[in-house]
Amino acid sequence: MREKWAYHLALSKKEIEGATLALLPGDPARVPKLAQSLDKKAKEIAWNREFRTCLGRVKGEALVITSTGIGGPSTAIAVEELAMLGVRTFIRVGTCGGIQPYMKIGDVVITTGAVRLEGSSTHYAPLEYPAVADFEVTSALIEGAKKAKVRYHIGITCSSDTFYPGQERNDSFSGYVPKRFQGITDEWKRLGVLNYEMEAATLLTVCSALRLRAGCITGVVDVRNISQHITLKALEKAEKNVVSVAIIGAKVFLNKILRKF
Ligand code: URA
Repeated sequence: MREKWAYHLALSKKEIEGATLALLPGDPARVPKLAQSLDKKAKEIAWNREFRTCLGRVKGEALVITSTGIGGPSTAIAVEELAMLGVRTFIRVGTCGGIQPYMKIGDVVITTGAVRLEGSSTHYAPLEYPAVADFEVTSALIEGAKKAKVRYHIGITCSSDTFYPGQERNDSFSGYVPKRFQGITDEWKRLGVLNYEMEAATLLTVCSALRLRAGCITGVVDVRNISQHITLKALEKAEKNVVSVAIIGAKVFLNKILRKF
């Protein structure tokens, strides 16, 4: 086994060339899109299972882009293994379903904290422990959204272990929503929760527990009071916006917070 070899990511410390910041899309197909927007010379350095990794540079500073796959377990693996290789800051770049009726397809949600409707984070900290984003990463992402001129919302995200029952979807195989989740979207709406997705709570909890920094942005692909259906057009719009906010936000973070250039 190679020195500092990350088993699931199939990566070594040497291969990430000193990168301390990682962008984490869920979808492996989003990795080259983010990498190319960041650095035309970015290269793919590993791809094992759902974990695809590209390495790029901004003003000489190395950055990794690694897909987490869907959900908490694989997200926790990606964070653990990237941290073993030297990464200290993590930015999730994903998609989500909007819960508040004023939200629009393509809006970007900047998560300040997450409802832990998942299980992986409980392996790191008890449920009383909050899933909160790092303040400076979040500030950089807000600046990124302003500079990218993208409509954005800042606040609480609900991270569910399931796409269908936990998000009260009836566009599922059975169409049935278990009693526990019937009416839950309305409850989140009343509580000011902005969106549903599946990774933020794990990412934020794991990172706080391990003294790492994390932030999360997600592009809205469906708005629950209109439709649960996700169209290709909606996905493309949300992806374009969230990628541009992530790229600018990451540069702001490197420049202003880490003072790398
Ligand atoms: N991702 C989710 O988890 N839910 C949605 O509605 C859209 C994207």
